Amino acid sequence: MKRLLIISASVREQRRSHGVALYLHDYAQRGGLAVSSVFDLKEANFPLFTERLAYLQDAPEAAIIFSQAVSQADAVIIVSPEYNLGVPASTKNAIDLLTSEWLGKPVGIASVSSGGFGARNVWGELSKIMLHMGARPSSTGYFTPNVQNSYNELGLNVADSKPFDERAHKFITSLFG
Ligand SMILES: Cc1cc2nc3c(=O)[nH]c(=O)nc-3n(C[C@H](O)[C@H](O)[C@H](O)COP(=O)(O)O)c2cc1C
Repeated sequence: MKRLLIISASVREQRRSHGVALYLHDYAQRGGLAVSSVFDLKEANFPLFTERLAYLQDAPEAAIIFSQAVSQADAVIIVSPEYNLGVPASTKNAIDLLTSEWLGKPVGIASVSSGGFGARNVWGELSKIMLHMGARPSSTGYFTPNVQNSYNELGLNVADSKPFDERAHKFITSLFG
């Protein structure tokens, strides 16, 4: 069974995108697609890193665990909101911490917004960043506009999960093709 790591990138109080991370985690397991785990940047409580992990003196333990989790995963999903048309600082801080861990890694980008566009800017920006770092970003995105209408902090919150499951299936399987 493939190992999937889902990075939940919002550290905001009352965040909504964490529900998207938990839903994708649940679907990956429920659909038998992967052994999935979530790395929660809010829980990790990273400082603003002053150097990449490979060169950092006295790295926090959570940073080393993060590096190992990305290295050991067969694929990574980054669930990130869009803040002011760009990648939030918490997302970029975690990405920039690593170097060789990203090489050749299939990466899926799940972008989340409370507005109607599903954070497409972030999807494009993260795809470009991942290509630059030598990862393999999937051309299949998982876009969540109006997140407050479908998810809460615990995950998907709708009567009919079928359309969500269909999109999640395409998104996750694109990483293991
Ligand atoms: C600093 C900041 C900037 C934001 N900018 C945008 C934006 O440009 N477009 C948008 O649709 N939503 C924007 N939002 C709202 C987020 O999309 C919303 O909080 C959503 O729930 C996803 O982020 P979260 O996981 O942190 O909750 C912004 C939120 C914050 C805190």
